[in-house]
Amino acid sequence: VREFQLPRPAQRDSATRIVIGKSARQQLAQLVDDTFGGAPWALCADGHVLQLWYDDLAVEPPLGFFPLPPGEAAKSFAVVESLLEEFTRVGVGRDACIVTLGGGAAGDAAGLAAALHLRGIATANVPTSLLSMVDASLGGKCAVNLATGKNLAGTFWNPALVVIDPDFLETLAEVEFRSGLGEIAKYALGFSQPLADSLQQGVGDLAAVIETCVGIKADIVIADPYETSGTRARLNLGHTTAHALEAWAADDEVLVPHGLAVGLGLRVACNLALEEGRLSQDEHSSANALLDRHQLPATLSDLIAKPPPAAELTPFLGRDKKIIAGELRVVLPNGIGASEVTTIDASRFAQAIANC
Ligand SMILES: NC(=O)c1ccc[n+]([C@@H]2O[C@H](COP(=O)([O-])OP(=O)(O)OC[C@H]3O[C@@H](n4cnc5c(N)ncnc54)[C@H](O)[C@@H]3O)[C@@H](O)[C@H]2O)c1
Repeated sequence: VREFQLPRPAQRDSATRIVIGKSARQQLAQLVDDTFGGAPWALCADGHVLQLWYDDLAVEPPLGFFPLPPGEAAKSFAVVESLLEEFTRVGVGRDACIVTLGGGAAGDAAGLAAALHLRGIATANVPTSLLSMVDASLGGKCAVNLATGKNLAGTFWNPALVVIDPDFLETLAEVEFRSGLGEIAKYALGFSQPLADSLQQGVGDLAAVIETCVGIKADIVIADPYETSGTRARLNLGHTTAHALEAWAADDEVLVPHGLAVGLGLRVACNLALEEGRLSQDEHSSANALLDRHQLPATLSDLIAKPPPAAELTPFLGRDKKIIAGELRVVLPNGIGASEVTTIDASRFAQAIANC
């Protein structure tokens, strides 16, 4: 037996240039050329968004357009596989770049395809939903769903460029806008008391709110890029509930908007935090007032017409990635604007969801 050690390979992940501003989309082709040195690029877009914005964008990607099924339907291996086949048919080379356009689902699916194509080519994200502007387009997570749960097959593949233009929100449905507010409420309750205070009065300057959230996420991703130290895991505040409910509902082919499920997850996390003395009664009331102010689901039946009993949810919690040595790892608020990863018994957590 002989043993060798290969040195750790150089980090291939790219740094991310983030450009935020009204009308930033009008500079898309220029920004892509600048960032990727004139490399050929393709646009992988949510089909619905592409239809709405094609004329306005007026871009001519050298490698063409690759429309994806709108929304969550894009996040399957079948869609990623057909994208990869298209990439090879068209001759998308190692030097090329994939620009994704759409909500979190399009970014997750096309990002994964880019990470797999020829073992990985560069990407840029152009988020068009509020949720993807403040969260999904940043930090490099891409994944597809399995029958056993959400986001269970994926990788980290950092975009080299993210172009955030709030003008895209003009065509976003109201329910999807509220879904984005679910993730924004997560940043407020889990990470920023000043953001929580300002959201109590309403959204205010939306572009400024987006920028604040991007700043919070960027700091966390810089501190813990691959979710190894526990810092980045705090971004999962509200998400253990959300992923369990989304996966449970998917079995009945019901689509639960991700950010609304996160909104309910925040209520569950706040209730458990109250029980554990992590939130005072006043803080608990204030967190609920913020969630009410932005019309996030107050009860489980606001989110799912026929809510599941706790026993039906437990197996979906068990399938979540956030499990270490059999204990469910969850994030709970510690006061307003702070949060912590902790462990909890899965059936107690399921009961807290069912009681919500
Ligand atoms: N990678 C990450 O770090 C990360 C973080 C959070 C969420 N996610 C994932 O993101 C997904 C949710 O993202 P989402 O909320 O953007 O949903 P989505 O991508 O499913 O989009 C929701 C709907 O809005 C439409 N849409 C998007 N932009 C539009 C626009 N400008 N005008 C009109 N319609 C528009 C889409 O066609 C779709 O029907 C989930 O799959 C979630 O798991 C990923």
